[in-house]
Amino acid sequence: MEVVILDEPAALAALAADAIGALLRDRPDAVLGLATGSSPLAVYDELAARFERGELSFAAARGFTLDEYVGLPADHPERYRTVIDRDLVSRVDFGPGAVSGPDGSASDIPEACAAYDRAIATAGGVDLQILGIGTDGHIAFNEPGSSFASRTRIKTLTRQTRLDNARFFDGNVDAVPTHCLTQGLGTIMEARHIVLLATGTAKAEAVHQLVEGPVSALWPATILQHHRHVTVLLDEAAASRLQLGQYYRETYAGKPDWQGI
Ligand code: GLP
Repeated sequence: MEVVILDEPAALAALAADAIGALLRDRPDAVLGLATGSSPLAVYDELAARFERGELSFAAARGFTLDEYVGLPADHPERYRTVIDRDLVSRVDFGPGAVSGPDGSASDIPEACAAYDRAIATAGGVDLQILGIGTDGHIAFNEPGSSFASRTRIKTLTRQTRLDNARFFDGNVDAVPTHCLTQGLGTIMEARHIVLLATGTAKAEAVHQLVEGPVSALWPATILQHHRHVTVLLDEAAASRLQLGQYYRETYAGKPDWQGI
């Protein structure tokens, strides 16, 4: 696991965008794992800017989102399928139907979840997965207690996650759905490169657990310690509880330029 601590949000976003740009140059039909939430927004802004300047193209790429609320109407602005369209897909040149997400309004939820895992596998698996992290250590919507082997499935959101996400529902926690569909931890672990972004002190404890805590279902993101290629991009606030923060800073400062993330 590589930990990069930089105090410029734009510099963190540029690193993630560099990795995506390099992947797309190498494999124009790469499969991207796309996260919603506020953490990846600066990355999506940077990707949109690079696309505008003609520096990269998503025309042959495909994308899979991580998760979806259950029960939001198709035209709800906070449906994750709508959010990712707004934040990234509509701003670049993905082909029609190239980006998909779990179907939170399916009548047969288990089949919709299994079909989603099959679709990711049929596409060849995710090459680069963008991730955020919840204050309770969830990734995607894998709440504490999630099985490390889990596949895409329905989950119940914790009260904490619903409180955290109430800001997208006019501050009304009761308007936040109670259930979601989410890629499982086992699904996410199959991505070939995982780039997790976290900023702000609210994430500091979850980040400490992710990087330095014991691997435990109580902090689901800790499973990433078992992944062979994870990059954790942090601002100083999110890094403020790291025990070995100075070591991570020195390591990154001394890294050869050719290495990339
Ligand atoms: C949400 C999403 C996650 C996201 C996390 C953090 O509940 N399901 O994919 O990573 O919470 O969100 P944010 O980046 O807005 O803090």
